[in-house]
Amino acid sequence: MKIDKLFDVKGKVALVTGGSRGIGEMIAAAFLSNGVKVYISARKADPCDQKAIELSEKFGSECISIPADVGSMEGILKLTEEIKAREDKLDFLINNAGAAWGEKIDDFSETGWDKVMDLNVKGMFFTTQKLLPLLRKAGTLELPSKVINIGSIDGINTPAFENYVYSASKAAVHQLTRHLASKLVRENILVNAIAPGPFPSRMLGSAVAHDFSPLEERSPVKRIGTMEDIGGLAIYLCSRAGNFTIGETITCDGGLTACSGHNLSV
Ligand SMILES: NC(=O)c1ccc[n+]([C@@H]2O[C@H](COP(=O)([O-])OP(=O)(O)OC[C@H]3O[C@@H](n4cnc5c(N)ncnc54)[C@H](OP(=O)(O)O)[C@@H]3O)[C@@H](O)[C@H]2O)c1
Repeated sequence: MKIDKLFDVKGKVALVTGGSRGIGEMIAAAFLSNGVKVYISARKADPCDQKAIELSEKFGSECISIPADVGSMEGILKLTEEIKAREDKLDFLINNAGAAWGEKIDDFSETGWDKVMDLNVKGMFFTTQKLLPLLRKAGTLELPSKVINIGSIDGINTPAFENYVYSASKAAVHQLTRHLASKLVRENILVNAIAPGPFPSRMLGSAVAHDFSPLEERSPVKRIGTMEDIGGLAIYLCSRAGNFTIGETITCDGGLTACSGHNLSV
């Protein structure tokens, strides 16, 4: 029951999609600070490569960049084949890469709809599917492998913004998580989702003109999320401490969903 055993993740191997910035970078950093070897992926090669170098130097653990677009089957195959060539098992898969699209209801475009669904839902499913052989090799009954899907409180609450496909995609992520968990638990792969509230990132920043203060004001705890908040939850789920938590969607939102009433999501 000692903390260093209960929450130990040292020596494990993880992939964090969308790990070059924002929430993905926060989760990658939390793993790296605790001795996990972390692969990060994103579409833009230079920022992803630079981030891997920066994080490796900062945390003294190996961070490797594999740029790929997980919104396309071609990109998913490129990424997953590269991981398979380098590793014979994968302990943690963090399906974090995601996109949003906001448009007035009368103008909402098919392009935006498809882009978000292809990445947030289809990409998540097929990335997981292609990595199942490595996740199966890593998982035992005592030490299961872990998949964390990043959803959103917009998939639970009614969003304030006109981001129809985003909220629908994130509700799909939460249900897909439960469905995958029910199948994969028998194979020692535990699947859960995290539904973040507001965290500082390019995605949220562009929705609020990079002024997070109104969101902080509305929050029951008067702030937005930090690396400790999301990283701590990811470590809990991936460590021994999380082995009896399966198929859940856990909010990480400073109480916005539970304590604020409706229509306060991001
Ligand atoms: N920030 C929040 O407040 C918040 C709240 C709830 C949920 N979330 C969820 O958290 C996740 C991360 O969001 P974020 O806010 O950290 O966003 P972000 O700052 O925009 O970062 C997104 C990351 O995903 C990568 N990415 C985007 N499209 C990709 C694609 N097609 N293939 C591969 N990588 C791709 C980006 O790099 P490239 O651009 O180089 O590809 C970047 O590394 C998303 O699933 C989002 O829905 C965020």
